[in-house]
Amino acid sequence: MIKKQIILFGAPGAGKGTQAKILASKLNVPHISTGDILREAVSKGTELGEKAKTIMEAGELVPDEIMGGIIKEVLMSEKCKEGYILDGFPRTTKQAELLDQILSHIDLDYPVVIELNVEDEIIVHRLSMRRMCSNCGYIVNLESLENQDVCPNCGAKNSFIKRKDDDEAVIRNRLKVYHESTKPVLKYYEGKTEIIIVDGTQSVEQVSELIISKLS
Ligand code: AP5
Ligand code: MG
Repeated sequence: MIKKQIILFGAPGAGKGTQAKILASKLNVPHISTGDILREAVSKGTELGEKAKTIMEAGELVPDEIMGGIIKEVLMSEKCKEGYILDGFPRTTKQAELLDQILSHIDLDYPVVIELNVEDEIIVHRLSMRRMCSNCGYIVNLESLENQDVCPNCGAKNSFIKRKDDDEAVIRNRLKVYHESTKPVLKYYEGKTEIIIVDGTQSVEQVSELIISKLS
């Protein structure tokens, strides 16, 4: 049987969101992106959004306790019973410990970790080319589009927007934070669960085929 409890791990821009969406639809389990949850809170102007806004715009990390609370609520919900794909969590060793505490209290299987491996310079280029359709939320790489004015998913015209943290100086800070605080999380999982390393520089389709074959 294919494993359906997954942590998609990797640097900013490694392709976590892109692959999580594909996997979620293939495995029929929810895609839980902490970045998306925080961005929604920012756009709605909630208390969480007020706290997270400046931290995210600087490419720093939202405090662990806040993130642990968010993930606990999601994992305890009915939708995660058959599986879950975590995208952007855990991001510190403390968050990995909080996740273990949460999982010890609820009846969910322990996740495998899939690491998408992509070099920093490729990431800086990718993220400066990333846009999101403001109409349907679809994420694109501008370079791979034949027509850069039309969303290939919903057909909306001139609807692409750039994330505020996709400015080069912020991208470089996000990478620094990744290497200092997030990459060590892999060490935490060594010996605890399977860690699948995937070359994230191949095409989107090749990466998702590799992931599925390694999960099976
Ligand atoms: P978050 O939203 O998680 O951002 P991130 O980790 O920086 O990752 P991205 O979403 O930028 O990249 P991705 O890996 O999803 O790549 P994508 O698929 O889009 O977090 C944002 C902020 O929220 C954080 O900085 C922090 O402040 C806060 N936060 C979130 N979670 C937190 C937590 N747990 N604790 C504390 N703070 C937290 O792809 C990128 C681009 O590449 C796209 O254009 C895509 O089309 C393209 N692409 C994808 N795959 C390929 C491929 N194979 N080939 C070519 N192009 C590709
Ligand atoms: Mg993402």
